[in-house]
Amino acid sequence: MEFPVQTVNPVRVETDCLLVPVFKNSELLPGAAKLDDASERLISQLIERGDFNPTLGNVQLVPFAPGLNTDRLLLVGLGAKDTFQESAFRSAVDAGLKALTQLSIDAAAVTFTDVPVGDRDCGWKARMVAEATHRALYRFNDFKSEPAPTPRLESVTLLISESDSAEATKAGAATGDAIGAGANLTRTLGNLPGNICTPRYLAGKAEELAASSDGRLIADILDEEALETLGAHSLLSVGHGSDEPSRLIVMKYQGADDPDEAPHVLVGKGITFDSGGISLKPGEGMDEMKFDMCGAASVFGTVSAVLALKPKINLVAIVASAENMPSGHATKPGDIIKTLKGLSVEVLNTDAEGRLVLCDALTYAERFNPASVVDIATLTGAVIIALGHHATGLMSNNDDLALNLQEAGETSWDRVWQLPLWDEYQEQLSSNFADIANIGGRPAGTVTAGCFLSRFTESYPWAHLDIAGTAWHSGKQKGASGRPVSLLTQYLLDREADRQGENTNT
Ligand code: BES
Ligand code: MN
Ligand code: ZN
Repeated sequence: MEFPVQTVNPVRVETDCLLVPVFKNSELLPGAAKLDDASERLISQLIERGDFNPTLGNVQLVPFAPGLNTDRLLLVGLGAKDTFQESAFRSAVDAGLKALTQLSIDAAAVTFTDVPVGDRDCGWKARMVAEATHRALYRFNDFKSEPAPTPRLESVTLLISESDSAEATKAGAATGDAIGAGANLTRTLGNLPGNICTPRYLAGKAEELAASSDGRLIADILDEEALETLGAHSLLSVGHGSDEPSRLIVMKYQGADDPDEAPHVLVGKGITFDSGGISLKPGEGMDEMKFDMCGAASVFGTVSAVLALKPKINLVAIVASAENMPSGHATKPGDIIKTLKGLSVEVLNTDAEGRLVLCDALTYAERFNPASVVDIATLTGAVIIALGHHATGLMSNNDDLALNLQEAGETSWDRVWQLPLWDEYQEQLSSNFADIANIGGRPAGTVTAGCFLSRFTESYPWAHLDIAGTAWHSGKQKGASGRPVSLLTQYLLDREADRQGENTNT
């Protein structure tokens, strides 16, 4: 996908379709006003006659544009100006780009940077347009005999005014381009069914990413024998009921000049299907448990964005992958297992398996002397009750790290909300027979899952992202969302910026 940037009067732009955002009951924006003047008030007249109602997300194709150099106009409603903010901007951009990808055109231009969105600059708006373009272009057709036609769109030109910085716009578009492509990789991995996307398949993806990285990414795969030797019995216990062997996948990216600079570590939950195991889930909606590897998928998507953006930081990405199935070999409620850290765990519910694979991966992360560790997991249904489908749940043992993730969430508009990890909650995990139980009862199920992980992360700054509510959509639009690739990539870009700040200060 191409995102050229042009400082030019939109009246003169030659393109297949020009996308024009319009507020409801408000003056036309500068770009739209110029177009209106040059076309005998085409846009104003459409609004006045009631042929276009600029409510948020409403689109109207104008197939001819007399007086203008573009072949078509696509008007996009922004809704009311006084309540307009980031979420509305994103909805409008999504609606506009979706409509563009449905046209038989190769190139479009957009005047989105003149839409005022709080104090967001043209770079941020360009990034949102690039991310939205990838979202709109995404198709998951591989299993349909008659796939929907692939969109033709190849280029979206970002039109800016004299007062906008072309450099910032280009940089924003490049960031959004990398994140959008990464998020689509995440979506595809998430959407792939459990009979294809297995722990071995994910390991193969890591090797593929490494092979196409010109040596910038190294992949290490630990198979069951290696995990047994290591002592990762908790991770292994989850896959015991499955015929699919488990894997611990490690990807290393060195972007800092110093290979020994402390890396940031991402750890993804990669349960390629979660039946619940012996604590079997109810049948309804169980297909959605193929999405239980979306944490892992977001790690892959972020690694792919990092390979494109080349930040000067070191990154280690770890994916803990297993299939959770019932069988005669499966772990049973009441079983006691020994974790890689040495703590014993009483498995009171085999459906609380995410924490069992993550705890060993988090212990494994210690060996990298990390600057920070962030795990990403579809860990609890309870986070959907607490936060719904808009905010990712955040828990952390370090206030600076929590703040960094909150800020990255605001910047990327891929937001998080923090929940407490108070000591009082830890008591819910006590076990009569082992060091710790794997469930803490119904109250605060998201927090007690975080508390379980916190027992394994005492030696470094750590944060946990529960993405069970944000990683995929249910219902008619069923499919992986690509979240939180934008958040994670932003978090890593911010760490690079921190470093550069430190270097110039000294
Ligand atoms: N993968 C699920 C979490 C989940 C459930 C995500 C529903 C999205 C929708 C996780 O492994 C799980 O089963 N968690 C249990 C924990 C419980 C047994 C303590 C849950 O949330 O019910
Ligand atoms: Mn489960
Ligand atoms: Zn699960």
